[in-house]
Amino acid sequence: MIMYTPPNSELIRIVAQKNPDFIVDHTIRVVSIAEQLRNQLGGDQRILFPAAFLHDIEFYRGVKGHGKRGADLFRKIFDGRYSPEAIEQIAHCIEAHPVKYAPFPETIEAKCLRDGDRIDSIASFVPQRYLASFKKFGDEELAWQDCMKRIKGWYNSMVTDIGKERFLAIAKDMQNIFPQLTDLEL
Ligand SMILES: [Fe+2]
Ligand SMILES: [Fe+2]
Repeated sequence: MIMYTPPNSELIRIVAQKNPDFIVDHTIRVVSIAEQLRNQLGGDQRILFPAAFLHDIEFYRGVKGHGKRGADLFRKIFDGRYSPEAIEQIAHCIEAHPVKYAPFPETIEAKCLRDGDRIDSIASFVPQRYLASFKKFGDEELAWQDCMKRIKGWYNSMVTDIGKERFLAIAKDMQNIFPQLTDLEL
């Protein structure tokens, strides 16, 4: 398999050119969390690394199908720099990572990325998710109901046992700050 390994600095530059700062920060964390899952579950780092770096390359708030669009953009940028097999393996990880409008993650690398993304969501994006819900409903209780629905959606889209365990442990820790997470009833 011909493998091109782009330096992390190149990958992060591509991400930064396309995304707002909070996605760049999120990306760096997902790279690290997905790699931790891979250490436990196995899988090829040369597939997972670029996939994790580029998974949200087409993420813009409110736009649907960023997994599929991100996979297509990856194919375009890296055409000829990986073998066709590696291109498709990486593209599959990117395409299969979102909660919605995504195929099931079939490979270990795609599973590590899907769950790594959810773990960072529960660890980092609850306040932001709540504020988005509050903006929509203008009512604290309705906002939390909506927010909790999203959080359950994150959890229900996870595919590995160790990923789910870690998600629940983080949610439990966060109950000190957000008691609403007690109602997670997962
Ligand atoms: Fe995403
Ligand atoms: Fe993400």
